Amino acid sequence: MAPSLTSKEFKLIQKFIQEKCGIAIGEEKAYLIESRLSKLLVDSNLSSFEELYQKIAVGGDQGITEQVIDALTTNETLWFRDKTPFEIIDNVLMPQYIKELREGLKTSIRIWSAACSTGQEPYSIAMCIDNHLARKGIADINLSNFRILATDISKTVLQVARMGRYDSISIMRGMENGYRDRYFKNEGRVWCLDERIKSSVHFQQFNLQNSFVLMGKFDLILCRNVIIYFSEQLKREVMVKIAGALNPDGKLIIGSSELFPDYRDYFILEQYNNGVYYRVKG
Ligand SMILES: C[S@@+](CC[C@H](N)C(=O)[O-])C[C@H]1O[C@@H](n2cnc3c(N)ncnc32)[C@H](O)[C@@H]1O
Repeated sequence: MAPSLTSKEFKLIQKFIQEKCGIAIGEEKAYLIESRLSKLLVDSNLSSFEELYQKIAVGGDQGITEQVIDALTTNETLWFRDKTPFEIIDNVLMPQYIKELREGLKTSIRIWSAACSTGQEPYSIAMCIDNHLARKGIADINLSNFRILATDISKTVLQVARMGRYDSISIMRGMENGYRDRYFKNEGRVWCLDERIKSSVHFQQFNLQNSFVLMGKFDLILCRNVIIYFSEQLKREVMVKIAGALNPDGKLIIGSSELFPDYRDYFILEQYNNGVYYRVKG
């Protein structure tokens, strides 16, 4: 059985995780650290949370550090999460992108899923684009005109995402049967994503605390259900970096329950049905 977490140990791990991933865990959530790290403590044969801290912070043990990050980050995701963002892509953004591509104003459209977890978000974007093109009978533009980058801090979720293989529980979450049957092949208990959709997404490890300068410019960024875990200061920093990483007229979509502080300095809020998106100020 794992020992309980002392107040000193909580503060050490809290500071470590805030520095590493930006996630702010308040004292009222100390139980999260204790419950989520207990198994790791036992499995790693460590006798206290302080010993665990020594391994990750002082000893710099990469393997255990990854496991601590995985345990303390929330990877919850699902297909076409919240629906409205995908309606915005389908009904508002796709017509604009098709026009820009046809008029030669752009040779490709760059989209970034900035905390992609196990891949459901970027693959939903790719399926939404592909379905739009097929539904409208558009033949002069295809999925390869859209470059989708998907990043996350966690190597573990990226490994799952890159495989494009989902079990029968995760395939059901948010996925309509029509999409499932069109884009997945069933192999026993596993659903394998169509190779064309899979290869349209490029996965990369990236920490949102880092500089965005090398990421280039995007037409659309989805940064959903991640800043909710950040401090107000880090939320603001991420918002400023996102504004800087968008092309003129670029759009940002955040989680349905999230708020970006002082967005008005950088973005114009656009309403769509019961959802919103942000257009970068020119
Ligand atoms: C709750 S999931 C959201 C997934 C998806 N965007 C969605 O809305 O369904 C949050 C993801 O953010 C990632 N994350 C946490 N801190 C991060 C950071 N500092 N940089 C990049 N990704 C981070 C976690 O690993 C996790 O996969």
